[in-house]
Amino acid sequence: MRWRFLILLILFLLIPFIIWSASSQKSSPKKVIKKAKTIDELVAMYDSRECETCHADIAEEWKKSVHAYSIFGTAGRTAATFYTTYKIGLRSFPYSGVKDLKDVKVEHLRFCTKCHLPQLEEAEDSVAQEIIKLAMDFMEGDEEVAEKAAEKLQKLNINCLICHQRNAIIHKWVDGYPQKDTVYGSKSGVHPYDKFPKMKEIATMKESIFCGQCHGLGPNFEFDEPSQCATLYGYYLWAYAAKGGAKSCQDCHMRESKLGHNIQSYKESVMQKMAIDFHFNARPMFWRDGRVIKPLIFAEVEIKNKAGHGIPDG
Ligand code: HEC
Ligand code: HEC
Ligand code: HEC
Ligand code: HEC
Ligand code: HEC
Repeated sequence: MRWRFLILLILFLLIPFIIWSASSQKSSPKKVIKKAKTIDELVAMYDSRECETCHADIAEEWKKSVHAYSIFGTAGRTAATFYTTYKIGLRSFPYSGVKDLKDVKVEHLRFCTKCHLPQLEEAEDSVAQEIIKLAMDFMEGDEEVAEKAAEKLQKLNINCLICHQRNAIIHKWVDGYPQKDTVYGSKSGVHPYDKFPKMKEIATMKESIFCGQCHGLGPNFEFDEPSQCATLYGYYLWAYAAKGGAKSCQDCHMRESKLGHNIQSYKESVMQKMAIDFHFNARPMFWRDGRVIKPLIFAEVEIKNKAGHGIPDG
């Protein structure tokens, strides 16, 4: 009798907890069921190769942009800097807790991956170690080892699913958290792809703030060890938009350039043409310097930055 009462009492006490845990699961949409243990698992988690089958033109454009190899970078520069971040930075910082490769955690790479690989948040520390190991192979290994490492590092990127799903929503308390069955763009309705059967309009996708989430305002103060890399969104807000500049990043980089998803810098000639107004006026003259007559050139140079921000950045 007594034990039965005891069980009932325990159940009774558990009810609020059961209700609470069920509801808290619903209201914690960022909850990740299983984190990736390897780079391959992380790549599979955000595999956007199937998007390419129907959106082939967009995919071709995207592949030419540096977003498609965002921790390798132009000619491996980003991988090289991840290497020095570990070798010269983390290992020598007295309070970082990093002495060796096995000490590297996701936490240690976050001050880069916040923008270069945001999905690292869904990976275990073993993936952070694998990334640094590959950066070491790329920098220290022989040709074959370096090439293999480069190939694998280039599988990690900012792809369709990062922009149109994981990082698509800026104001999550207003617009909600990204749903696993939905791609976000400029329209709502049925999306004819079984893995993502819904599409939803999200207004900020066309706004500069969408790009701003990764293109930097200055030091990233939210980290125990703030980093600073891109600061371009800061320039855009305070030196362009504040002075009446009305175009968005997407206006210049995707539409007017006609480059679409091949979002580019001066590496593309159309961007060079859009970047500056250059006027040069030269007039030869003679200058009387005391008793000596010197031939000189009188030159007027006018350079106007037409980009929506300071150039170059970073
Ligand atoms: C089986 C073909 C198919 C696949 C696979 C596919 N899509 Fe689509 N997608 C479409 C079609 C067709 C539309 C246009 C639907 C409409 O307008 O009603 C569309 C629309 C979209 C839109 C909205 C377009 C807009 O104007 O804003 C986005 C964003 C999008 N897809 C992203 C993706 C992503 C990301 C993937 C991969 C995860 C993907 N799609 C895979 C066929 C596909
Ligand atoms: C606030 C977001 C942000 C953070 C944090 C960040 N980066 Fe960057 N990084 C960018 C962006 C955006 C670019 C490219 C555009 C630019 O330079 O304005 C870039 C460019 C680079 C480049 C030049 C790449 C090339 O292709 O030439 C390197 C190298 C680099 N970052 C390394 C790092 C490392 C290492 C860290 C961490 C210590 C880091 N970044 C932190 C956003 C960031
Ligand atoms: C760096 C972020 C980013 C990446 C990566 C990205 N997109 Fe987009 N995508 C955008 C933005 C921003 C727009 C809205 C463009 C505009 O305002 O004109 C867009 C527009 C679209 C549209 C609407 C039609 C159009 O051409 O404007 C489709 C469909 C689409 N993207 C599919 C994809 C697919 C498929 C991939 C992967 C191959 C991809 N996107 C990768 C940011 C991205
Ligand atoms: C999830 C973060 C993220 C988003 C969102 C994003 N970018 Fe980037 N972007 C980066 C990173 C990181 C790099 C640099 C990668 C590297 O070189 O290592 C980069 C590179 C670039 C470059 C090339 C810079 C160079 O020096 O060649 C341009 C241009 C650019 N982004 C524009 C945009 C625009 C426009 C948007 C919005 C439509 C956007 N980005 C959205 C993270 C992002
Ligand atoms: C008025 C048009 C215009 C607007 C608005 C604009 N850009 Fe640019 N952007 C350009 C041009 C032109 C270049 C080429 C110059 C260069 O690369 O140095 C460029 C270059 C860049 C670069 C490469 C910088 C470098 O070091 O060379 C990045 C990254 C970039 N833009 C991102 C953005 C982002 C993010 C936004 C929105 C916050 C934005 N741009 C808004 C025109 C624009």
